[in-house]
Amino acid sequence: MDTELEQVIERWLATWAHIRDIAVLERDGWPVMQVGSPSRETELVCVDPGVESFTDLLRHVEGDPRAMLTVAATDVGPYLTTRLPDGVRLDRDDEALMSVVLHDDPIPPLAPDLTFRWDVDDHRTTYSVESGDTLAASGSVGVIDGWATFDAVETMPAFQRQGLGGHVMATLTVQAMGRGATHGVLAASGQGRGLYQAIGWQHRLELLSFMGT
Ligand SMILES: CC(C)(COP(=O)(O)OP(=O)(O)OC[C@H]1O[C@@H](n2cnc3c(N)ncnc32)[C@H](O)[C@@H]1OP(=O)(O)O)[C@@H](O)C(=O)NCCC(=O)NCCS
Repeated sequence: MDTELEQVIERWLATWAHIRDIAVLERDGWPVMQVGSPSRETELVCVDPGVESFTDLLRHVEGDPRAMLTVAATDVGPYLTTRLPDGVRLDRDDEALMSVVLHDDPIPPLAPDLTFRWDVDDHRTTYSVESGDTLAASGSVGVIDGWATFDAVETMPAFQRQGLGGHVMATLTVQAMGRGATHGVLAASGQGRGLYQAIGWQHRLELLSFMGT
């Protein structure tokens, strides 16, 4: 794997740990994110370990429904077709690691009936767009060492495909650049990929996630 890609992965893990304020432990030489969320307690992230090591790493999640193993690779095919032990299931195969050199493009304006709100915490700045009392779209950004990560970007179904996702990303990008960010990195969902590609982000690696059962 080239050095630039290694840096993107390293920055993804660092910005993710920072924005979610999570500790990172190590197992078999790979980082284990202490996620502690409703969906999972831990997430071990490995980068193209090879099928033999991958099969061995599965023991960290086998039988534990709160443990996740994520594989990042240019081609996740070999991992997708590996026979899984009984106590492991494929959780997600739609995510991708994406990155960008940030640009402060003009922010698409909000429709006059929408309002916005900022919430600032230690490591995360959240921007929300509301229609009256109803949340229409929101997203968060965190910056560390010149790299920004974007988290929980979401447009409610009734407001999708009206430009709000692009508005939230452009607004958060300007905010992050104001705090010294020059690059962005994030793990995109299947739907998110469409949005991020449309605003110039580059696909870097596929992500596959497995969970214990
Ligand atoms: C991803 C998401 C935030 C997009 O929000 P949105 O407000 O609908 O996005 P926009 O209207 O600003 O889309 C701008 C452009 O991005 C692209 N795009 C957005 N959603 C897309 C999708 N689901 N599939 C393909 N392209 C998409 C399109 O090019 C779109 O322009 P168009 O509508 O003129 O074709 C929204 O679908 C969502 O909340 N999904 C569920 C949560 C989620 O997956 N969040 C991302 C986490 S990484």
